Amino acid sequence: MSEVPSGQVSRRLPTHGVVERGEPVTIEMDGERLEAYAGETLAAVLLAYGRRGVRTSVRFRLPRGLFCGMGSCYECLVVVDGRPNIRACMTPVQPGMRAGTQRGPFEGVRPVPDWS
Ligand code: FES
Repeated sequence: MSEVPSGQVSRRLPTHGVVERGEPVTIEMDGERLEAYAGETLAAVLLAYGRRGVRTSVRFRLPRGLFCGMGSCYECLVVVDGRPNIRACMTPVQPGMRAGTQRGPFEGVRPVPDWS
């Protein structure tokens, strides 16, 4: 806890200085150009643009979005530069990155099985 000017004790966490952004980069998500900053994850950029759904569920093809944000749940799988099953929350943006919504489990790898 830190002292505040009035003499009261603050329960806020101490600041650790200014966070500096990386260089601006441009990426593409489903054909839309997005401005991002180096060092950000793809998930952070998508949230900043209001994109909550990043894939569709395997069985019912319902929209799915970020859940844990730390690489554990695999709810944020996207297709990045033609490679499916990439976790958006664990993937730093790269200049020219081309990402897309992943529809079903194996888009781009093999035919999607019929779950009905
Ligand atoms: S949001 Fe859980 S693994 Fe990405």
